[in-house]
Amino acid sequence: MDSEDLRKRVELAKTLSQRAGAYLLERFGAVSRVSYKGSVDLVTEADETAEGLIRAGVSEHFPEDRILAEETGASGDASGEWCWVIDPLDGTTNFVHGVRRFAVSVGLTHLGQPVGGVIYDPSHGETYHARLGDGAWCNGQKLQVSARRQLGESLLVTGFPYNRGECATELTAVVARALEQARGLRRFGAACLDLVDVARGVLDGYWEPRLCPWDMAAGVVIVREAGGTVSRYGGREFDLNSPDLIASNGLIHSALSAMVDGDGETR
Ligand code: IPD
Ligand code: CA
Ligand code: CA
Repeated sequence: MDSEDLRKRVELAKTLSQRAGAYLLERFGAVSRVSYKGSVDLVTEADETAEGLIRAGVSEHFPEDRILAEETGASGDASGEWCWVIDPLDGTTNFVHGVRRFAVSVGLTHLGQPVGGVIYDPSHGETYHARLGDGAWCNGQKLQVSARRQLGESLLVTGFPYNRGECATELTAVVARALEQARGLRRFGAACLDLVDVARGVLDGYWEPRLCPWDMAAGVVIVREAGGTVSRYGGREFDLNSPDLIASNGLIHSALSAMVDGDGETR
């Protein structure tokens, strides 16, 4: 992979995320059309318009690149080198309810591997970005994961999938272990911002089952480049096309993974 090719794409991803994020802020508090993708999974005209803005920018500058976006799916050559993995509005439920915890997430993969990412939090004017081997950054400041070594001193975050009603027992069993073993547990409702909070050392670990590639693509590069670790459940290697994710500062990763898996418990 040519690092200059990646740098140019990440720069464009910043511009497009900021453009989409500015549009989301304009619409915040004023969404008129909300519909359901599933029983609780919302989509607004803001998700769709923001995605259109990013798609148009990618197609104009890198017409040969593939795009995988939440609302409009995949387009372009599946055998190509580059893919843009786009969540135009992560935290739609927060957005609809007037909670300022939402962001634009644009990940870049090269031959299927996540190599770059941009997450723009318009409410705070914060642009997070990372490129493989170049560290993770927010508005010019380098990010570093926390140095906490003990799960008992760690502040964790999780998320619940939209089909949570079907797997509530499985989800709450892990939550119960977190309540017993960690210092604290949060649920904020925007996966990409949960990942940047791990990258900047505010939170020590995050887990969630049943994610989609666009929830993770940018954030996993940012966590890794900030010195953290990402994996699947069961200590398995991270895979963008597998839905379960554990992200941490690295130091608590095996303890967190054991907590998520319920190691040592009879199931
Ligand atoms: C959702 C958010 C939420 C997570 C869900 C995601 P959306 O994304 O990231 O935090 O728990 O699993 O689907 O629908 O707001 O883009
Ligand atoms: Ca999402
Ligand atoms: Ca979304």
